[in-house]
Amino acid sequence: MNTNITVKYNDLPIYDIVLEQDYSAFYRELNKLNTGNRKICIVTDTNLSKLYLNELTEILKDYAKVVETFAFPAGEASKNLDTVYLLYERLIHSRFDRKDLLIALGGGVVGDLTGYAAATYLRGINFIQMPTSLLAMVDSSIGGKTGVDFHAYKNMIGAFHQPKSVYINLKTLLSLEDAQYYSGLGEIIKHGLIKDANYYLWLKEHCEAIKNRDMEVLKEMIYKSCLIKREVVEKDPKEMGERALLNYGHTIGHAVEKLMEFKLLHGECVAVGMVAASYLSFKRNHITRGQFTDIVSTIQSFNLPTFISGIRAEDVLKVTLYDKKMEAGRIKFILLAELGMAYIDTTVTEEEMLEAVNYIIKQ
Ligand code: GLY
Repeated sequence: MNTNITVKYNDLPIYDIVLEQDYSAFYRELNKLNTGNRKICIVTDTNLSKLYLNELTEILKDYAKVVETFAFPAGEASKNLDTVYLLYERLIHSRFDRKDLLIALGGGVVGDLTGYAAATYLRGINFIQMPTSLLAMVDSSIGGKTGVDFHAYKNMIGAFHQPKSVYINLKTLLSLEDAQYYSGLGEIIKHGLIKDANYYLWLKEHCEAIKNRDMEVLKEMIYKSCLIKREVVEKDPKEMGERALLNYGHTIGHAVEKLMEFKLLHGECVAVGMVAASYLSFKRNHITRGQFTDIVSTIQSFNLPTFISGIRAEDVLKVTLYDKKMEAGRIKFILLAELGMAYIDTTVTEEEMLEAVNYIIKQ
């Protein structure tokens, strides 16, 4: 299986997604960028720096003039302009110029923040995504969305800036905590539901192997998910239309995430949000009751939550209505037209939404 996936815009190849099981092939990506005479800054967090930084720095030494590292405290609380400020300071202090390179070694927080710094430092420098979490591998590292949070507002400040390469070392999945791992599976189940019913069935069939983190099965799964993500972002790089399908489960999921004060992981909130969106799809007779209950039990079988307690349905609705997906007074809701095919619906009423939210709240 050739596991390199090229992402193209307007038929022009922009970058490759490379699937490997260590860092030994990374020099090829560096050779493509001719980094021999350049400075490289690896941006990572304090957890990951203990795991992979030494190995990577050793490899990079032979392919760059200078290798620096910038590690910030792990977690969403660091994903803000203060951390970006410190990174700018470091880059200026070390005289990074526009031809130098950043490498984002980490999960979604590291990737989004590094990408944003790369998009804005000197009006844009090169960066490489090196995702180490399942969610970052199949979602946030692909498609050029970068950004940081602003107070309680997630990804409020950002830019589209494409990486020069996405290099995935699958072995990093073996050191991921269970909750983080299953959080990534929320986005993976989503890929099947919105784009590919056969992939959804494949996930169900391989549930045990996926939970056991069988390397060959993971490789196939990540490859299939990256193909789906590529298909969507190639058609609609700046989310003018179809890319919004990737928000399946996110409209209500984001509201839950906010109301739970970010105590639940993103993929867990998306899982609950997908139950609500699937419920609405069932209520509109797009999928059968059997398909709906199957989706709920599939989400459960991957150790993800399917309901929530401790918050009020009215509050979820209120936050959802203020969500940034409001367009001309209407919420853009992603529903299933059928299993494996999502569409954008702007006709979902507040009553329908409240019914769906009530379904996922169990006190
Ligand atoms: N994570 C959703 C997107 O890339 O559009």
